[in-house]
Parts: sequence; C-alpha cells; structure tokens
Amino acid sequence: MNVTEAVSTRRSIRQFLDKPVDLETLRRIMDTARWTASGCNYQPWEATLVTGQPLKDLQAKLTSSQPQQAEYDWTAPGQEEAYKERLNAVSRGMFGSMNIARDDGEGRMKAMMRNTTSFDAPVVMFIYFPRLMKEAQWSDTGMWLQSVALLLREEGLDSCFQEYMALYADVIRDHLGLDHDRYMLFCGMAIGYRDEDAPLNNFERERVALDDQVKFLGWD
Ligand SMILES: Cc1cc2nc3c(=O)[nH]c(=O)nc-3n(C[C@H](O)[C@H](O)[C@H](O)COP(=O)(O)O)c2cc1C
Repeated sequence: MNVTEAVSTRRSIRQFLDKPVDLETLRRIMDTARWTASGCNYQPWEATLVTGQPLKDLQAKLTSSQPQQAEYDWTAPGQEEAYKERLNAVSRGMFGSMNIARDDGEGRMKAMMRNTTSFDAPVVMFIYFPRLMKEAQWSDTGMWLQSVALLLREEGLDSCFQEYMALYADVIRDHLGLDHDRYMLFCGMAIGYRDEDAPLNNFERERVALDDQVKFLGWD
C-alpha cells in the first residue's frame, strides 16, 4: 500500500470485526510512528494501548460512570454556520446509515454511547501529554496520530479517533495510573479490523473543495 492509498482508504471505522490484533504488529506501527516530526523535536505525545481484560475492566467503569466536564473544548467552531453544517453532515451520514431519524433523540444517544466501548474495537489507545503542552504540541500530537492511522492502514488495520474519551478523563487516568495533575487526556483511538459490509463504515463523507481551502500562488 502506498501513502496515497493509505490516506484515501482511511476513514473512521465504527464497527469492527471480532478479531484480535497482535502485539508485534502494533509495536511495529508505534515504533515507526516515532519518526513523526514535532516542533523542537519535543515529541510530546504519550499513549497506552489496552486490550483484553484490562480493556473490559476499563469499559465496565466507563459504562457505569457519568461523563465529566471535558478538559478542553472541541465545540468552538460550531459557533459559525459553515462549521456547524460540516458537523451536521457527518451526523446525517452516520445516523442515516443506522436508520436513526433526526428526531429520535434516544436512538442518537444510544448510538453515541457506543463510543464508550469504542465501537467494540479489540484495542483502544489512549493518548495524553503533560498539561504544559500548548497549541503547537497539540498539533504535533495530531500529526503523530495521523502517522499511526496511516501505518495501521498499511497493516490492514483501521481506527477511529475518539475525543469523546475526554469526557471520562478522570476514570481513564485512574485506570491507567496517570497523575491527574500532570496529564491531559487528549483522546482515544479505537483500533481493529473493519467490518467491510457495515453501512456505518460506508456512508458518504463530505470534504471542502480543494480550491476553497488551499491557494496556489506563482504558477501563472
Ligand atoms: C481528534 C479527533 C477526534 C474525534 N473524535 C471522535 C469521537 O469521539 N467519536 C467519533 O465517532 N468520531 C470521532 N472523530 C472522527 C471524526 O468524526 C471524523 O474524522 C470526521 O467525521 C471525518 O470522517 P473520516 O475520519 O471518516 O474521514 C474524531 C476525529 C478526530 C480527528
């Protein structure tokens, strides 16, 4: 698989096969991802990958916990109509693929709650970094996450990033033995093999047109 194929076949997978992922494959991916660039080579990202009983134990805690105030705000862009519409489009595609109607609040909530068990992915990675990290290092962590997502594709694996997990930061930090004062929990990443046939993994996604997003100067 080349880079173009990895980028264009990656999509957020929300229904996984019941198939374990072996440790060696994951170690290889995480080892390569270390070569992601970061400002000042700070390499701010840290993570724990969880599977098997420790994952089941954590998910039992998550399922019985109330969401907390998220530690950071990912909703700010929704103040502007254009960004709000992008989110609405994802919701339409996602809930539409599950035949959940727009006014079915309970159905939508139930579907959202599948985030708690990471869509039944066999592996979940939790991503965190020291709280002293600022915008530049959050961005570096995003780049590292994209490296991981693409390397997963190369191994035939799939993922879904989960900022939803920031709503359970305290429970997760406790479970992973992370110091609450030191660590910001950024997000989770569901990892596993995609269920190719699931409508939830096949709805159409939208992207902004290239020329509305990127300008090229000096070619003419
Ligand atoms: C940092 C980050 C956090 C995300 N958190 C969630 C999440 O909590 N739950 C979810 O279902 N999708 C989540 N997503 C997936 C986005 O909804 C998805 O990337 C976007 O709709 C584009 O679709 P695609 O990934 O299939 O290309 C997240 C994506 C990113 C990059």
